[in-house]
Amino acid sequence: MNIQEIIAKKRDKGELTREEIHYFITEYVAENITDYQAAALVMAIYLNGMTKEETTNLTLEMANSGEILDLSVFGKTVVDKHSTGGVGDKITIVLMPIIASLGIPVAKMSGRGLGFTGGTIDKLESIPGYNTVVEINKFIENVQKVGISVIGQTANLAPADKKLYALRDSISCVGSMPLIASSIMSKKIAAGAEKIVLDVTVGSGAFMKTKEDAIKISKMMKDIGTLANRETVCVLTNMDEPVGRAVGNTLEILETIQCLKGNMPEDIKEIISGIGAQIIKLAGEGNSLEENKRRILENIKNGRAYTKFLELVQIQGGDISYIENPEKFPKAKHIIPVYSEEEGYVEELNAEKVGVTSVHLGAGRVKKEDGIDHAVGIWLKKKIGDKVNKGDILAYIHANDEEKGKTAVEDLKQSYKIVKKPIEIEKYILDII
Ligand code: URA
Repeated sequence: MNIQEIIAKKRDKGELTREEIHYFITEYVAENITDYQAAALVMAIYLNGMTKEETTNLTLEMANSGEILDLSVFGKTVVDKHSTGGVGDKITIVLMPIIASLGIPVAKMSGRGLGFTGGTIDKLESIPGYNTVVEINKFIENVQKVGISVIGQTANLAPADKKLYALRDSISCVGSMPLIASSIMSKKIAAGAEKIVLDVTVGSGAFMKTKEDAIKISKMMKDIGTLANRETVCVLTNMDEPVGRAVGNTLEILETIQCLKGNMPEDIKEIISGIGAQIIKLAGEGNSLEENKRRILENIKNGRAYTKFLELVQIQGGDISYIENPEKFPKAKHIIPVYSEEEGYVEELNAEKVGVTSVHLGAGRVKKEDGIDHAVGIWLKKKIGDKVNKGDILAYIHANDEEKGKTAVEDLKQSYKIVKKPIEIEKYILDII
């Protein structure tokens, strides 16, 4: 068996066997297959797809490419949560401290930005001192001490996914259902939680642009979960516009702090209570989804969720004085308003365009080894359904490079569509599968 034959088979729309997938994954992790050979195969998969069997085999091979964690030490059901990706998606950072504040252990590994979407780890690293690279023993110890740890994928957890994730990002091969499903489920299986809640995003700012595609990938991931003995629930959420108001790393941490202090936009409130209620149910706690939602909102009101967030930041080495005094966070040099040239109602705020604008400002990567600028991004003042007068501020661009900032102003204007008639706001939770 050799990699050239495997690439040629997929290029010619053939179906790969478990042995061929095993060979690719083990030899790529061992660095006997180069990045350019892996890139050719990934592009062939992106273009020609994979059967259900190939996707399952790819998932299991990636999960088995490193260690599989055992989280039974906590003596309680651990429920993992993962999003298929979005723009302004800070749901994990808002929700997981709330879950931990309810006494449900949170042992969560997250990812970096991918394509035009942001990543939880990049966002957390904008908190000075927050260490996302932590040994497994320390990760488990942190959960035992404060009930929560959120870190990056460790080197030996699904290492095949780690390599392929960065590679896909740099060769524009992110938005492929078998690649997304296998990437997410391999990590979740390896991370050891018995139960999994997936936030499957749908719309312009998601990889699944239609509800049909979101249902299809949800079924794919649920089937893989069943096979691996991990009960999986998918919550379909609306990603036609960015989540909340902040897009960009530090800005999203600032919005998270506001949310945990009770100042939460409607979309974030509906999404965290919808997903959180499912997590609590799978953890075997709470009598009904409605009661679970109430408990979530209660722990924001009484301050327990915010306190848990402080504990999380502190145990990961972060400087909590930034959380307590958010004005300490470094700001971008140029904060430029974007004015509306029209009057009416916002009908569209294209999340993918907003995400791409944010990446161009420096909040995301163009090459896999690129660094990111934590301070830059976009703060949205007007969202879908809002009334706008000519000359109103639609958003603020936070830029460290003036030229990039000016380009971002023009690009952001193209993300808005303003119409004369009032707009009915869509639901944020679209389905549960
Ligand atoms: N999240 C992941 O972990 N992988 C993907 O491919 C997309 C979103």
